[in-house]
Amino acid sequence: MGDEIKEKIERLRKEIERHNYLYYVKSEPEISDYEFDRLLKELEKLETEHPEYYSPYSPTQRVGSDISKDLPPVTHKIPMLSLSNTYNRDELYEFDKRVKSGLPESEKVEYVTELKIDGLSIEALYRNGLIVQASTRGDGTVGEDITNNAKTIRALPLTVDYKKIPKFDLSEFYVRGEVFINKKDFEALNKERSERGEKLFANPRNSASGSLKLQDPKIVSKRKLDIFVYYLLSDNVEFESQYENLKILDELGFKVNPNYRLNKSIDEVLEYCNYWEEKRNELPYEIDGVVIKVNSIRQQNVLGNVAKSPRWAVAYKFKAEQAETVIEKITWQVGRTGVVTPVAELKPVFLMGSTISRATLHNFDEIKRKDIREGDFVIIEKGGDVIPKVVRVVGEKRPTGSQPTESPERCPVCGEPLFNPADEVGIYCENSKCPARIKGSITHFSSRQAMDIEGLGEAIVDVLVDKNLLTDYADIYELRNKEEDLIALERFGKKSVKNLFAAIERSKEQPFEKVLFALGIRFVGSGAAKKLARAFKNIDNLMAASNEEVESVPDIGPSISGSLKRFFSLNQNIEIIERLKKYGLNFELAEEELGNALAGKTFVLTGTLPNLTREKAKEIIEKNGGKVTGSVSKKTNFILAGESPGSKLEKGKALGVPVITEDDLMSMISEK
Ligand code: IVH
Repeated sequence: MGDEIKEKIERLRKEIERHNYLYYVKSEPEISDYEFDRLLKELEKLETEHPEYYSPYSPTQRVGSDISKDLPPVTHKIPMLSLSNTYNRDELYEFDKRVKSGLPESEKVEYVTELKIDGLSIEALYRNGLIVQASTRGDGTVGEDITNNAKTIRALPLTVDYKKIPKFDLSEFYVRGEVFINKKDFEALNKERSERGEKLFANPRNSASGSLKLQDPKIVSKRKLDIFVYYLLSDNVEFESQYENLKILDELGFKVNPNYRLNKSIDEVLEYCNYWEEKRNELPYEIDGVVIKVNSIRQQNVLGNVAKSPRWAVAYKFKAEQAETVIEKITWQVGRTGVVTPVAELKPVFLMGSTISRATLHNFDEIKRKDIREGDFVIIEKGGDVIPKVVRVVGEKRPTGSQPTESPERCPVCGEPLFNPADEVGIYCENSKCPARIKGSITHFSSRQAMDIEGLGEAIVDVLVDKNLLTDYADIYELRNKEEDLIALERFGKKSVKNLFAAIERSKEQPFEKVLFALGIRFVGSGAAKKLARAFKNIDNLMAASNEEVESVPDIGPSISGSLKRFFSLNQNIEIIERLKKYGLNFELAEEELGNALAGKTFVLTGTLPNLTREKAKEIIEKNGGKVTGSVSKKTNFILAGESPGSKLEKGKALGVPVITEDDLMSMISEK
């Protein structure tokens, strides 16, 4: 019994960490915030009931950081604080009271209000008028080096005339601001991604953060990132007010949001907040509130900070926008894995700058829980997801004679019976010949993260499957023999067919990990595919591996190993793999992909690791090009910590050195 619970706790920790990674590091969440919270709550509950399984490395112990492993860490000289939130008039007035009680009674307080841009905060360092480094906020203390990517932001000057304002010594200063993507550019980006069969970004914020952390600045530069700067900091300069700070930034050529205002009272602040809550849709970029700052820097210094946020500033957050509409129909969509999801087809309604005509209903349990029916009036809300969600049914408006929604028994596309796995809420179409599944799996196969076949997006795949030119993804490599049929199609000319053939030919060079991901094995995302490829080197080893061997790879759990077993046990999949091998796809790791993942990195070990001995850990680090030293210094790149760590951990934290676990180390070497 005890072991079972321990296993469950460990499984949940791994799963949550994986979603944390997808959300914070990759900006590509796979599950909704709601589902994520549910997992976390489940873990919290188990951990409270079983304190004997406590671990300082459980995701429940996380304060939240987003240090991506691929970008070098940067320690902020002055920590980047966050703001506490207020949500209504009363909380705003309490803030005003707190501020005034922290200052001599006779003093007047003025506030600067600024729009709270919904993006990602960064810091840039300028020395002698040149931009020398840029970093993300990270956890506030340590961020990531994004210098090259930040330089692609056209609005961020590469050089400034730092002698322009003689009364200030601006030979070295930092600016802080918010990187964002305009609503229009965001929509264009997602449209392009959808055409290429790639995952959509949930919102402009995620797309800005995902873009800033890309490895290739050339791609970043196409993303149309923009920035509003709201702070200048320097050891050599003391401004009188935040208002002056903004003016100077503007004068130096930085992009400052023009809507800031100086307010003489909290009532004026409230008026500003209400005004922008009303007008937010008219702006070309997203804002999620207003930032309120005490104007006088002297007063700011008197007030100081509490923990991670200043006493002299606060955010006023807008309410999520809601709208009421009618569900005209509930339809069921079939994804590439066969999962069947309900969608509410809505009477079109305008919400936060766009017209909404569909909302996701997640799964049948959700429909039952909220008792959602066709014909219902519902409140919808735009949250962090691409598609808005149904918050609740307006009960009193339910039409008489309405019937509870039923779960379909047969696939809405192919008509085969559906299957509901015992431990899941989802229902599945198991028919591998179902046209919806075929289309989904081919689109996934050709998507950029997988085989990257340009010209084989969703719309084209639809046509080719309907015309029987493709019945599975291996057929792609036989299209060459069907040139006449292709040219005869309305959408194709000679030239586009030629381009498509070239793209198909090129795809044969995609490395093993991409091929493995392209196969579309359930739960095997691009990260898992990368790790499996590196661990097993070729498909035959992977097929022969036991569940235990597969699960010994970091971050790979029973759901992946089970899914692999099931996939490889089906003859039709083995046949497809054989065909793909024949066409010349890579089912083996290339030689040069091994070796120096940790080049130039220095590690310090402390505490007992869960699996590795110290000697083994050292050997692994050195084999991958890294170095292990005995004591912590500014040059240490990572502290590898286990149970009961020593004082090295504290020292490292004080110096802002990132602390990693054994699992982290293993993932670092299993990534390129
Ligand atoms: S001032 C201590 N000003 O909101 C000062 N922040 O929770 C903190 N943000 O991390 C930042 N627009 O990402 C400030 N005009 C603005 C802002 C702004 C957006 C973001 C920023 C920060 C978060 C605060």
